[in-house]
Amino acid sequence: MKTEAAPFRLEDYRAPAFTIDTVGLDFQLAPSATRVVATIALRPNTDEARNGRLELVGDEITLKGLKLDGATLPEGRYTATPSLLTLHDVPNRPFTLDIETLVDPAANTKLMGLYRTSGTYCTQCEAEGFRRITYFLDRPDVLAVYTTRIEAQKSDAPILLANGNPVESGDVPGTDRHFAVWHDPFPKPSYLFAMVAGDLGVITDSFTTSSGREVELRIYCEHGKEARCTYAMDALKRSMKWDEDVFGLEYDLDIFIIVAVSDFNMGAMENKGLNVFNDKYVLADPDTATDADYANVEGVIAHEYFHNWTGNRITCRDWFQLCLKEGLTVFRDQEFSSDMRSRAVKRIADVRTLQARQFPEDGGPLAHPVRPEIYHEISNFYTPTVYEKGAEVVRMLKSILGPDDFRKGMDLYVERHDGDAATIEDFLASFADATGADLTQFKLWYSQAGTPQIISRGAYDEADRTYRLTLSQSIPATPGQARKQPMHMPIRFGLIGPNGEDMEFRSVSGGRVEGDIIHLTEASQTLVFEGVGGRPVPSLLRGFSAPVRLAIDISAADLLFQVRTDADPFNRWQAAQTLAMRNLVASTTEQIAGRPAKAEPALIDALGSVLDDETLEPAFRAQVLQLPSEADIARELGQNVDPDAIAAARRELRLAISTGLGNRIERHYGSLSGAESFRPDAASAGKRALRNTLLDLLLARRSPEAIAAALAHFETANNMTDRLAALSAITQAALPERRAVLDAFYKRYQDDALVLDKWLTLEATVPASDTLDRVKALLKHPSYSPNNPNRVRALVGSFASANQTQFNRVDGAGYDFLADFALELDKRNPQTTARLLVSFRSWRALEPVRRTRAEAALRRIAAAPDLSPDTLDIVTRTLA
Ligand code: ARG
Ligand code: ZN
Repeated sequence: MKTEAAPFRLEDYRAPAFTIDTVGLDFQLAPSATRVVATIALRPNTDEARNGRLELVGDEITLKGLKLDGATLPEGRYTATPSLLTLHDVPNRPFTLDIETLVDPAANTKLMGLYRTSGTYCTQCEAEGFRRITYFLDRPDVLAVYTTRIEAQKSDAPILLANGNPVESGDVPGTDRHFAVWHDPFPKPSYLFAMVAGDLGVITDSFTTSSGREVELRIYCEHGKEARCTYAMDALKRSMKWDEDVFGLEYDLDIFIIVAVSDFNMGAMENKGLNVFNDKYVLADPDTATDADYANVEGVIAHEYFHNWTGNRITCRDWFQLCLKEGLTVFRDQEFSSDMRSRAVKRIADVRTLQARQFPEDGGPLAHPVRPEIYHEISNFYTPTVYEKGAEVVRMLKSILGPDDFRKGMDLYVERHDGDAATIEDFLASFADATGADLTQFKLWYSQAGTPQIISRGAYDEADRTYRLTLSQSIPATPGQARKQPMHMPIRFGLIGPNGEDMEFRSVSGGRVEGDIIHLTEASQTLVFEGVGGRPVPSLLRGFSAPVRLAIDISAADLLFQVRTDADPFNRWQAAQTLAMRNLVASTTEQIAGRPAKAEPALIDALGSVLDDETLEPAFRAQVLQLPSEADIARELGQNVDPDAIAAARRELRLAISTGLGNRIERHYGSLSGAESFRPDAASAGKRALRNTLLDLLLARRSPEAIAAALAHFETANNMTDRLAALSAITQAALPERRAVLDAFYKRYQDDALVLDKWLTLEATVPASDTLDRVKALLKHPSYSPNNPNRVRALVGSFASANQTQFNRVDGAGYDFLADFALELDKRNPQTTARLLVSFRSWRALEPVRRTRAEAALRRIAAAPDLSPDTLDIVTRTLA
């Protein structure tokens, strides 16, 4: 068993003793021995520099030479290990170091620093990968101007790219090599450095900014995939325009480059002027990408582009401030997608994701504040809390201030902090100073972990036409935080009257209410609305205006009324989900007691009325018809979770709903055509979503007719969305027919790695007892590779995170499998390993038998020698 190194703490922040103004990098690329000469201009920054000791961090690199102001440093004036270069007596004035290092890109399976992907050299430096290239002050508050020279064999790497603008290129006389020089005039931290070199295809375009500058746009990919980059290019141009229109932010270099690579630990990376992407977020065409893939490409392209201002021009002082760029940029990409598509449907999808990924994190051992205060391994803090809850905090800020004041605050933030490495305090001060708002209490959202719970109780007094609404907030204890203070929560609301419209009221007391926002600031508040014309159905938390769990004393009849009438589409969806969840929780209890599940009439009525309402957009109707997932039900139960009982209850309830809705399902399914040619726009995607959701509901019956319909749907599909939807419905129903369709799908796409990821995921998520053996067999399949994170996530990641019954097998075999797999993968790729293990995060909520087995698997991992810091950190916190 290994023990952990000392943690990093926010309170220990100190400015760097030295700073760096310019960096020159010279790469002599070779697969196993790349030489890097870094010429860095340093300068004392604080008094601490006077002691003459300079420490530059490295990671698995070899020092080959060191000069100070051009003169070779004698041994004795420095010490070098693969992880640290210490200079003992540097001058107390500006000076220059030439540091020569040797790195091995071919052996780099961690995919951090400089590595090879399908023969292409590429880099990933966030958060701490630059130190795997050269010794450096590898921290985000050291901002320098970079010039990069790359030299490589022409045949090996005809394309040579780095940050900034191209300066110079040519052949190296008398050799088979060539070079290129790039210069980035904007000071940036090392985590935004990037270099790519290889033999790549490209598509080009251009964009004229609002001030009339022409920007060259390029997307590079593997040869032969150029045609699949056109949607990404379109999304990029729309992102550039949107950021000008909505935030007044314009692009700043002469060129913007995206490179799609097949081996990538995360989604994508916002390196200045040279974004590097996981190819799954670039490549899309109708035959290989689903509507969800198109939406993801659009969202991630926008996200990385938006970082150019929120992240790059204004970066983070330290990694504790990660949400400063990530939460804000997720908020911005969500807003962009809302403007491009349906705002209501986008909001529902985002809230589903938040509840599925962030709520369990916030409710378990890995809970941490949006701005963490302590970490061992920063890679493990690229979390749903930092990203998605971070975005919700920004959205609340906008709700509290209103759109105009929010924009004023953003403008001041950019004006004040352009070129800075900033903090959450800087961010909030910009909004407070621009608007006069007091954000002291609001700031608690950044420091208090845990999902707040709001309990609401309402009472209408017919005689004096008064409605009293009591809202109480509480925040559960989380690791390191036993007690919490009440927070400032914007509760968007309406009082729905008997005719289904929002009612007016004469006055309100007991708290601050502005427009449709209740400012909840106390642990408990009773708002008294006077002059209310009838008994209202309260519609609270419209648009999910705060990331909380709301427990509301509302009857099934009122929920049904809300599904039919609420002016807020989000709350119509929410009311249907609440009805469904109540029914699912009750059915799970019945299941454990051995009684059959039955569908509540109010739920059938609610779903039926939305299904039949042709005035609602199809994508919205599809969302309403999709029941909470097995994992959602487990989270709602919170303890003593039996995944088999949940799955059985959900299966039976789906059957009861399918039967209850009767031939309305067939009728609506039949009225939607699958024959139209594919267009990726939101309206077309919405029709496909409804049709595919109906097919899935139909198949809950497992009747010969339904099975025939699903097979026909699969056979006749003219696009990946429909094809995969049929396949997924068949595999999720664990029908015997699944083998033949899965094999047919495999054959058709056997040369397309990204599509095969979908196949691996379908195989891994079949809810059947032979799935674990199938997953183990697929680890040896030629289409699978342990070196590619997308393959690993598709097969093992989906098994552990999306197959509730089989990962949580009562015999513990799913847990043992993940533990064995993680111990192997940890030697190659710690980041990806640590992410997989997050699937254990809710182990304490399991029923006792599974809980014991999950804990044993976790303890076995923890006891292994030589765990990576990433995996050790996750396992230690999960068990704490
Ligand atoms: N900044 C990137 C993004 O949000 C994520 C990069 C994270 N990389 C990592 N190795 N942790 O777009
Ligand atoms: Zn980001």
